[in-house]
Amino acid sequence: MQNKFGRRSFFGRVFSAAAGLSLLKMSKPVEVFARAIPLESTQHSLSEEIDAGIDTMISGREITGKYSIPSETPEWAHHAVFYQVYPQSFYDSNGDGIGDLQGIIQKLDYIKSLGVDAVWINPFFESPFCDGGYDISNYYKIAPRYGTNDDAKKLFEEAHKRGLKILFDFVASYTSMEHPWFTASAEQKKNKYSNWYIWTDNIWLNPPKEYQGAFIKGFGTRNGQYMQNFYHCEPALNYGFAVPDPDQKWELPIDHPDVVAMREEMKNIFRFWMKMGADGFRADMAGALVKSSNSEGNQQFFKTHEDGTKTFWREIRKILNEEYPDAFIVSEWSYPASALDGCFHADFFHWFEGYNDLFQKESWRILNGVSEGHSYFDAEGKGDITFFLKNFMEQLDRTVGKGYISIPLGNHDNARLGNNRSDDDLEIMYAFGLTMPGVTFIYYGNEIGMRQMPESWPQVEGSYRPRNGARTPMQWSKEKNLGFSTAAADKLFLPVDPANDAPTVESEERDPNSLLNKTRKLIRLKHTEPALAAYAEFVPLYVKENAYPFIYARAKDKDVILVILNPSGKKSEAEFTLNIPYSKMKLLSGKEIKLARGDKKILATVPPQTYAIYGLQ
Ligand code: NOJ
Ligand code: CA
Repeated sequence: MQNKFGRRSFFGRVFSAAAGLSLLKMSKPVEVFARAIPLESTQHSLSEEIDAGIDTMISGREITGKYSIPSETPEWAHHAVFYQVYPQSFYDSNGDGIGDLQGIIQKLDYIKSLGVDAVWINPFFESPFCDGGYDISNYYKIAPRYGTNDDAKKLFEEAHKRGLKILFDFVASYTSMEHPWFTASAEQKKNKYSNWYIWTDNIWLNPPKEYQGAFIKGFGTRNGQYMQNFYHCEPALNYGFAVPDPDQKWELPIDHPDVVAMREEMKNIFRFWMKMGADGFRADMAGALVKSSNSEGNQQFFKTHEDGTKTFWREIRKILNEEYPDAFIVSEWSYPASALDGCFHADFFHWFEGYNDLFQKESWRILNGVSEGHSYFDAEGKGDITFFLKNFMEQLDRTVGKGYISIPLGNHDNARLGNNRSDDDLEIMYAFGLTMPGVTFIYYGNEIGMRQMPESWPQVEGSYRPRNGARTPMQWSKEKNLGFSTAAADKLFLPVDPANDAPTVESEERDPNSLLNKTRKLIRLKHTEPALAAYAEFVPLYVKENAYPFIYARAKDKDVILVILNPSGKKSEAEFTLNIPYSKMKLLSGKEIKLARGDKKILATVPPQTYAIYGLQ
């Protein structure tokens, strides 16, 4: 990897603070994988050259068709595809320029037509919107701009009528600084909420240096500094300290009665939305609950002591298993080995450098603008998939039978995947996302190839670049504001794509070869092919450092799928081995690829920007 910062320091610089929780945990694998990749391989090939660079961790695996289904996971989840809706940008039903719940209801038929199973909606609760609504000021109330609690109930009902599930966004690690709990907590006079947040006991004394940057002083009448969990407006809720420092009396243990009371209230919130009809949730910063005074650096306030944090989520999972066995919960933890350890059904694996290697390695694509290198999924064809894959395999091996890893196809925190990419580029990325193990999440608008907007656009509600360019309104038609809203253009949450050829649902519906219809076809495959089950076996067949294509198999019993991906703009060749008998390969999606078959070996000649998904018969 050409990276002047070196893997480790670079790693720390790439991520948003929200990702910090995973950084320390990932630091070990990062060091290991930063080493030169061994050249030897257990695979046989026509030439030495083809094999060079395959690491033993991912080579030499054979297709067995064996699999293990995670227990206490709803049946529907095993082939699930989720659609992520950013509520402010999806559809504005009342012409005030901001998307709303009635708008989502009106578009449920469209969502259903994609063939997805469930929808994750970013926070829709009352909020001053310092961080897009993650900063919640009332967990029990829908933000008036989105509608009412009755609208939410209606949304759940209407979704269920169509066989769709709805996940809400559960922000358990902090509240808005405008939440009444925090207002009370900031008061000098001791009260029920004094310990619900993390406060030092002396405003003049700086907290220990490992917390540098985590504390804010001079707020409220209380003599102390409060800990933030992300932006300054997001004070950390107090889940206690795994190893309280005896010299810092304000560090409470995780079983302190006030900590326990706060945790119980978070459970009430969870039950409230589940009772109303939600089908589960996505947990924001799921690993960032319990603090640990024995870890270093500014990760301290994100990187938390796992056991205490896991205990909380396991309690939630227990309620879910017993009372809502058909519900599903997914975490923003980005460390599946922890998140799937009895806590969540699935974990997003995107806050690590391997994800950037796939989709956003260039400085103009990456979140913090500091990066060197090339995305693997780019026609330039200069990327490298090995670092991603080794991290992925390591996590996969550790979580088989426990839950699912999700490699999201975009989200509201990163630049759009459609960032200097054609529809053909995107289709190959979606073919990858929908055929890898685990469950797939698709960010709204990506199915039509919505593009990243310029960073000079307004950075509203904490959407600092490049998030602002990824949160723009959904493009429905060529009508006013691309069909998103009837409001005046300057009243919109964010402007719409001004390009003459801005993709829209309406125009893509009419074209059988549109990205929209190709995405639908790929989503369908994930449901119809047994070997594309989230739990089906995954076997890399051709992976080479700094090279294309990437080839793998998925298998369940005798069902086998072969996936060949060449996102590069150059023709590529690969020799690989298939250790199972088959007589025919049936093209399920993509384009036919020239495959010269030997006994067990196959030489693939893959044209530029081409992929194929074959079913072996
Ligand atoms: C992750 C959320 O996805 C992001 O939008 C937010 O800013 C941070 N966490 C803080 O919650
Ligand atoms: Ca509205």
